Amino acid sequence: MGGWSSEREVSLMSGKGVAAALRERGWSNVTELDMDRDVAKRLGELRPDIVFNALHGHPGEDGTVQGMLDLMGIRYTHSGLSTSAIAIDKELTKLLLVPAGVRMPKGTMVRSETLFSADPIPRPYVLKPVNEGSSVGVAIVTDESNYGNPIGRDTKGPWNDFDELLAEPFIAGHELTVAVLGDEALCVTELKPKVGFYDFDSKYTDGLTEHVCPAEVPADIAQSMLDMALKAHRVLGCKGASRSDFRWDDRQGEAGLYLLEVNTQPGMTPLSLVPEQARQRGISYGELVERLIEEALG
Ligand code: DAL
Ligand code: MG
Repeated sequence: MGGWSSEREVSLMSGKGVAAALRERGWSNVTELDMDRDVAKRLGELRPDIVFNALHGHPGEDGTVQGMLDLMGIRYTHSGLSTSAIAIDKELTKLLLVPAGVRMPKGTMVRSETLFSADPIPRPYVLKPVNEGSSVGVAIVTDESNYGNPIGRDTKGPWNDFDELLAEPFIAGHELTVAVLGDEALCVTELKPKVGFYDFDSKYTDGLTEHVCPAEVPADIAQSMLDMALKAHRVLGCKGASRSDFRWDDRQGEAGLYLLEVNTQPGMTPLSLVPEQARQRGISYGELVERLIEEALG
């Protein structure tokens, strides 16, 4: 857990939750490891039977830690090296999923300095780092009033810390997500933030977002999301749990449904969605943690 990604604090919450649940269930030899550059040395000394990977972002969700653990012969939860390396990159993910029949928005990669001269695609659009999580660095650019026109390094905005960005058409309507556990899509949750979009604060501040689980969407739309999430999980070769995030423009029916990305290290905090969907399916947080470990030990 922990590490040095922009999602460090989220990961600490995930990791502490997992460790507490294991201890509650009678696991006596649980070590909480806040990852630093000495992680390989620490693991070499500890020689754990299993690593529960509660890292988010770099380098715990992008294949780096997975490769280190492979090299050391230590088993770990969630996805392996190549799946992680592909899924962390929202554009690379499309190269595999779109030909497999999963609808995803057409992205345009831009270097942030080029944003000075013109909008990369027509407004409204979403500008995001290609490989971050928890909506870190995400901006929804609607019209001249929200960020000015054109936008760029001189304009204060979430994009300032990133050189390479992904621009995608903004899909109006609903924010939805589906967790896959093992080989089963669990449920559809709709996220209804009280203010603005489902950004970092809305994700992690209790009370800022209403979670509707199961989502009140037409049955065929819900089924399409479950199918797409399971297909994404399988095509990418995810292990343990993954979570696929969607947008749905209800004015366009099925054609307005888009998968945005697949998270291979989905949050395990008290407000997180995979534990919530598991609970909805009768699986407690502690059981979820143990199932992920059992699968990894498999
Ligand atoms: N990136 C965060 C942790 C999530 O997907 O839940
Ligand atoms: Mg994500």
